[in-house]
Parts: sequence; structure tokens; C-alpha cells
Amino acid sequence: MHFNDIQRVPGDPILGLIDAYAADPNPNKFDLGVGVYKDALGLTPILRSVKLAEQRLLDTQTTKTYIGGHGEPRFGALISELVLGKDSPLLESKRVGATQTPGGTGALRLCADFIADCLPGRGIWLSDPTWPIHETIFAKAGLMVSHYPYVGSDNRLNVEGMLATLNQVPRGDVVLLHACCHNPTGFDLSHDDWRQVLDIVRSRDLLPLIDFAYQGFGDSLEQDAWAVRLFAEALPELLITSSCSKNFGLYRERTGALLVCASTADKLLDVRSQLSSIARNLWSNPPDHGAAIVAEILGDPELKSLWADEVEEMRGRIAQLRAGLVEALTPLGLGERFAHIGVQRGMFSYTGLNDDQVARLRHEHSVYLVSAGRANIAGIDASRLDLLAQAIAAVC
Ligand SMILES: Cc1ncc(COP(=O)(O)O)c(C=O)c1O
Repeated sequence: MHFNDIQRVPGDPILGLIDAYAADPNPNKFDLGVGVYKDALGLTPILRSVKLAEQRLLDTQTTKTYIGGHGEPRFGALISELVLGKDSPLLESKRVGATQTPGGTGALRLCADFIADCLPGRGIWLSDPTWPIHETIFAKAGLMVSHYPYVGSDNRLNVEGMLATLNQVPRGDVVLLHACCHNPTGFDLSHDDWRQVLDIVRSRDLLPLIDFAYQGFGDSLEQDAWAVRLFAEALPELLITSSCSKNFGLYRERTGALLVCASTADKLLDVRSQLSSIARNLWSNPPDHGAAIVAEILGDPELKSLWADEVEEMRGRIAQLRAGLVEALTPLGLGERFAHIGVQRGMFSYTGLNDDQVARLRHEHSVYLVSAGRANIAGIDASRLDLLAQAIAAVC
């Protein structure tokens, strides 16, 4: 038989957590595992702006023909504006181009193949820890993957260690940076830290790849883009992966883009010719529906304003939950120990709970977290913060 030697690999641990949570009969269970935004009812709703845009598409779309390797140019232009700011000189000088991809993951995969094919011999440096898919996506493309320190076992941002390691990175290597809302830790760099990273990137001639999966979930749509824009204006070349999964709630529509900033408009065309050829062999043409929705929203001032309000609503709920959890832990004598939860940004928090505490939370209190103590703060039910705080206190 052809398949006899194929071994079964273990499933994604987060997906296993979903099954275990679903099977738990405890009505007071908490799902803080899987990385999707949830509202006060525990649902991941379709945004109103998305529904309106979809209705328009239903009424007006006239074809489902292929859209080409780089996707819909209108989507590319609008997503570039959203990421870089509408006044970015890169737009005017045509030094930036977006390639529509199946989600942020598709953008990362395209980027990995681009580096492997067009920049042979370059290694890639990831934060320790990082989103686990970063590890496998670049390794599978054949890149040498290394790490710079980011958050240590003391559960603190280690900027000194990060800068010291970046100072040793071989010239020309690629450094992956999280634009905001670092997954899995929730710890972000300060503006000053970013400036120091930029200095090293420049002095060692490194190529930054900024993963921007949570625009709008940290401080605001504009403020979250601060570091991306700093790098885009200061450097001649930059790679950015953008995801519309979280901020547009378009998870399953697979919507994202790889943005390339090149030193000249002409060089950009060379790079884009390569990207289109690589994409042709990966997925031929990108999926359209999610990107068409995004273009409809970003291209219409009214829909854009509604969407921006909805993003702000999601961001505000997460910020309130962070503050609320620290507040609920305070009377239990744990406010200071978990104060970092209020400082971190985005959906995720490295709580500092160890594997044993995570296991006890799950088995004794039906609180489901990913091992390493990562909690999806957006999964918390605000009306049961005290119950959650008591469960945490019981295992600490
Ligand atoms: C850091 C990071 N990058 C990229 C992605 C890609 O998201 P998607 O492929 O769903 O757009 C995610 C999603 O969880 C993420 O956390």
C-alpha cells in the first residue's frame, strides 16, 4: 500500500483545547484558548459594516472571473493606505505594492518563498517566543530560523537581550517583528525601543519583515501602525504582512496582503514579478470575497467610519477586560503580580501561570488556557470576572 509508512502527527494543541472545552458540561466554563475575538455574549459576530458591504457586493458584483496574481488593485491600494497612512510618500512615489493573499498566513507563506527563492542564503530571526506558525512556515520554506530574546521566564519584556542579539545578526538576514499586540505574549515595544531596533536594522543592513495581524486592537488603527510607518519612512526596503482576519472579523474569508516597499518604483516591479510567479504556484489567484468586502468598506467614507467604530468597540472591550481582571484580582492580593495584564496589548496575555497551574485551572475550574499560560483576554465574560479571579487565586 502506498500510504503504509505515513505516520499520524499530533493535532494542533489549540484545536484539541476547543474540543475539550466543548465537551466540558460545567456551565461556568471559560474559553481563553483559541485566538478569535469574542463579544459580551461569547460570540464572534459578523461586523455590521461587513454585512452592509456584502449586501452591496451581492447586488452589484457582475463576475467571479479570476482577479490576477496580485489580486484586486483597489484592495491593494486601500490596504496600503490603511497600513502606511494615506499621506505616505511611498504611495505617491509608487514604491509600495500590495499582493492580496489568503489571510496573513498566506502573506507570510508568500514572503517565506520569496526570501528562499530571491534572497538565497538569508536566515530569518524570530522573537522568542512567537506565534508557532512563524516557526514552521519559514522552516518549511527552507530558511534557517534563529531567535532573538523577547520575553523570558520571568515574564518580562527583555529589550536589552533583544537588542544585544540583533546586534549579532549576520548582515542581510531577515528580522521578523510584530507590529503590535505581540502574539503570544501581549508585550509590545515602546517607541523608544522601536527606534533602537531601527538603528540596528540600519547599521547591520538587516531586512525587516513586520507582521501586522492586529491593527486596531492595541491602541487605535493609527497608533498601532506607528512602528510600521517609522520603518517604511526610514528604510528603502521593507516587507509587511497584513491580516484582515481580526480587525474586519473576516477569519474564514482568508483576507490579507503582503506589502513590499522597494527603493524605486522600477525595482518594485521586479520584485512584484517574482511574487506573482511564486503566488501562481501556491494558489494561482487569491480568494476574492473578503478582499472585496474590505475594499468596499475602506473605499466608502460612511462604511469606513462605521467599521472604525466597530474596531474601536472590540479594542475597548479588550482593554476593559484587561483592567477588570486586574481589578478583580486585587482584593485577592494578586493585583500587583498580574499588573502586566493591564499593560499588555491586544487579545493575548502571557499570564505568567505555569503549565501546572494551567492544567489545574482546566481540570479543577474549567478555565481553558493554552499551555505556557497564554490567555485570550477577548474570551473572558465580563460578568464573571470575579469567578475567574477566584479560580486563578485558587491555583496560585
Ligand atoms: C502573529 C500573527 N500573524 C499572522 C496571523 C495570520 O492570521 P490569518 O492568516 O488568519 O489572517 C495571526 C493569526 O492568528 C497571528 O497571530
